[in-house]
Amino acid sequence: MTPGTMHARASARANIALAKYWGKADLEHNVPAVPSISLTLDQLVTETEVCFVEKLESDIVVLDGRPTTAPEAQRAIAMLDRVRRTAGLRWKATVASSNHFPTSAGLASSASGFAALAAAATRAAGLELDSEALSVLARRSSASAARSIFGGFVELPGGQPGQRSLAARQIAPERHWDVRLIIALTATGPKSVSSTDAMERSRKTSPYYQAWVEHAPRWAVAIKRAVCDRDLAALGSAMEQSTFAFHSCAMTAEPTILYWNQATVAALRTVSGLRERGVSAWSTMDAGPHVKVLCQAADAPRVQQALDRTPGVLETRVARPGTGIEVLS
Ligand code: DP6
Repeated sequence: MTPGTMHARASARANIALAKYWGKADLEHNVPAVPSISLTLDQLVTETEVCFVEKLESDIVVLDGRPTTAPEAQRAIAMLDRVRRTAGLRWKATVASSNHFPTSAGLASSASGFAALAAAATRAAGLELDSEALSVLARRSSASAARSIFGGFVELPGGQPGQRSLAARQIAPERHWDVRLIIALTATGPKSVSSTDAMERSRKTSPYYQAWVEHAPRWAVAIKRAVCDRDLAALGSAMEQSTFAFHSCAMTAEPTILYWNQATVAALRTVSGLRERGVSAWSTMDAGPHVKVLCQAADAPRVQQALDRTPGVLETRVARPGTGIEVLS
């Protein structure tokens, strides 16, 4: 390593929540109000390089080769500051992050981004954190990122205000269950309202938010059991409820947040239609218009074909269970 520099590179993959996180118990410490369960994917990989440089005057953050917007830079620098405090380091850093996404159509994931940054920044600073500590660090920046530290099936418990040490943990490794997730893109461009803003607005204004917080843990329990039992129908049914319940909170916020477009509804109908014809396929969505469909590996070609034929669906991708973070150098 060049004298006066400390460098590391790491990668992380996106995850899809099977039981959804929506709403914070503590805004400052970014503690989720409800438990969530996810599947880390083999697609949507972020690779991040961090270099602390003795002579650098300020942090430089580059995303996919372009300088970041001020809010993007602030979020990354907040994580660098935490790492510097822990390591007793003063040097500023350059951060270069690239998303190896199969598409640029608004699927950018803060989960893979902050998981990769947590791994690269701590290693560059000379810290040897275990996965739990990395998950806590990633969660502070984006709660879904806490889950991308681990591969396979992962849970992040709901927390209490002030619960700084909340971390995700693996329920089962990626080889536990060879499911497929078909991602149907229904729009291009970034989402209308960020998940962080939308869940805060839901918490403050939706009359359904309290009901969501009360019910979400039950779906998480059902989904965890279904993952352990490899019971796709039980998982899918609870996953769809969890998805539609959090979207109901967003829709009933003031002002309303409606992520769906016509192709979203068409894709959801394609999936329920497949089920009527005996295919065990189940929808989930995040804070955006895209539809993601969980099914058995053997059914993936049929599900993908049906989604490809759905009016308004622009592109589909098939993801498999993926691994957690990797430190590359
Ligand atoms: C709908 O993790 O992006 O995708 O913690 O504010 O960064 P912050 O939110 P974020 O929210 C993800 C919400 C979701 C559901 C999920 O991934 O659990």
